[in-house]
Amino acid sequence: MLSEKLSIRAFKEDDARQVVRLHHESSERFEELEITEDFINSIAQRSDFKFFVAGDGEEVTGFIGLLFHVNVGRAEVGPICVNPLHRRRGIGTKLLDYTTNFLKQAGVKRIIAKVKLNNEEAIDFFKANGFVEEGHFKEYTVKGEDVVQLRRFI
Ligand SMILES: CC(C)(COP(=O)(O)OP(=O)(O)OC[C@H]1O[C@@H](n2cnc3c(N)ncnc32)[C@H](O)[C@@H]1OP(=O)(O)O)[C@@H](O)C(=O)NCCC(=O)NCCS
Repeated sequence: MLSEKLSIRAFKEDDARQVVRLHHESSERFEELEITEDFINSIAQRSDFKFFVAGDGEEVTGFIGLLFHVNVGRAEVGPICVNPLHRRRGIGTKLLDYTTNFLKQAGVKRIIAKVKLNNEEAIDFFKANGFVEEGHFKEYTVKGEDVVQLRRFI
C-alpha cells in the first residue's frame, strides 16, 4: 500500500541531500559521475532540465530527472530512482506518469530512456510503462558498459 501522504512534486533545494543519498545507494545503476548536492542544485536550475520527487512527509522516497527540448518535441527521462525499501509499490510508475503529463503539456511527443544493458529490472520497468527498445549502444559508459535505449510516444 502506498502511504496516503505520498505525493509527487517539484524538487526543492532542501531535497538535494536525500536525492544524493538515494543516488549513492543505487550508484551501480547510473553513470559514474561525482554527484554532490551542489551538482544536483545546479542542474535543477537549468531551463531544459527538471527533477520531480516522490515525497512522503519529509522523506524523499524517489526522484526522476528529465531533459526536454520543447522546440523539437523530444525528451529524455532519467535518472529515476526509488528507495530500495519502497520498490514494487508503484512509486516509480507514479513518478513517470507525473513526468509524462508534464511533458505532454509542454508539447513533447517522444520520450526516451537509456538504461545499462545489465539493468534488467529497469528495462522491465520501462517496458511495463509502455516503452519499447529501439537501440543498443556499445561501450557507452565511461566504464565501457553497453546501454539500451527505450522509447515511448506520448
Ligand atoms: C526502476 C525503478 C525506478 C522502479 O521503481 P518501482 O517503484 O519499484 O517501480 P513500480 O513499482 O512502479 O513498478 C511498475 C512495474 O514495473 C515492473 N518492474 C519494476 N521493478 C521490477 C523488477 N525489479 N523486476 C521486474 N519487473 C519490475 C513491473 O512490471 C512492475 O509492476 P508490478 O510490481 O505490478 O509487477 C527502481 O527499481 C529503481 O530505483 N532502481 C534502481 C535505479 C535504476 O535502475 N534506475 C533506472 C536507470 S536510470
